[in-house]
Amino acid sequence: MVFDNLPLIDLHRHLDGNIRPDTIWDLAQQNGIALPVEHFNDFIPHVRIEDKASDLMEFLAKLDWGVKVLANLEDVQRVAFENVEDLSLAGIDYAELRFSPYYMAMSHNLPTADVVAAVIAGVKQGCSEFNVQANLIGILSRTFGLEKCQHELDSLLVHKDNLVAIDLAGDELGQPAELFEQQFKQVDKAGLNVTVHAGEAAGPESVWQAIKLLKATRIGHGVRSYQDPALLEYLATNNITLETCLTSNYQTGTIANIADHPIHTFLANGVKVCLNTDDPAVEGIELRHEYHIAKTTLGLTDKQLQDIQLNALHAAFISDAEKQALLKLKSANI
Ligand code: HPA
Ligand code: ZN
Repeated sequence: MVFDNLPLIDLHRHLDGNIRPDTIWDLAQQNGIALPVEHFNDFIPHVRIEDKASDLMEFLAKLDWGVKVLANLEDVQRVAFENVEDLSLAGIDYAELRFSPYYMAMSHNLPTADVVAAVIAGVKQGCSEFNVQANLIGILSRTFGLEKCQHELDSLLVHKDNLVAIDLAGDELGQPAELFEQQFKQVDKAGLNVTVHAGEAAGPESVWQAIKLLKATRIGHGVRSYQDPALLEYLATNNITLETCLTSNYQTGTIANIADHPIHTFLANGVKVCLNTDDPAVEGIELRHEYHIAKTTLGLTDKQLQDIQLNALHAAFISDAEKQALLKLKSANI
């Protein structure tokens, strides 16, 4: 359940994990790209998780068709634009959309910095057309290794004035955060915020690395932080918000059941959490569904859900004045 007198905010939402299946189909036809099936309905299982994947990497493979059909910069701009339309359709007031420009560029050798520019253009166009607010977070996709991440960072920093943060995503187990310390020094120098995927496929040590070595001030998922009481205390004391994505955590095999999610442990220890989608098109969910299961499956109280909506506002990478304006926008809905 969502409180309509408070802004509805999604801080952890992958733009390249939210490419509509019908757009993928359409772009494949347009660009002469062969798909594995002949009929659209048979295509859905290739781009959406049915129940759950066996692990994070199997889950992430479902994002691949979405980027394989991006044959030119107009396609990139289109999917960015449609992402903002999706925010509007989902009743989201403000979102931070994240994307890995190299992942979007690699299938057709698009220039990575031009992909960043095309995403920015599509999001700007969408925000003015649909009257939604969104900012962008650039991702370094660790799956492809250090060299590609440096290239990705260089391409993102060309457009740093149009970004609010940098994230590290992808293969957390195979490519630990400590390998990317040097890249995040450059992020710090560029004056951008840091959020890092951690404690999803790996344990609390990964969250510590994200905080201590990469200087993350928010953590993507952070699920396995519950295994380390000292970490819980550190997160609470230092106001590090966990970007929780319930359905994603189930579908990646991070938790066995939604009801097992450690969100109650986080709240009991004073750790701030917010609710987010992650890869809505791949998961087949939207943000309101996450609030719904938080109430029904996890039994969160109205007060807790209200606090969670406010946590997202406070953790957003925007100014206090922008936060106040978002609050004001909704406060008339009482
Ligand atoms: N974890 C890591 N990388 C990702 C994810 C995720 O949940 N979603 C998209 N890229
Ligand atoms: Zn994510």
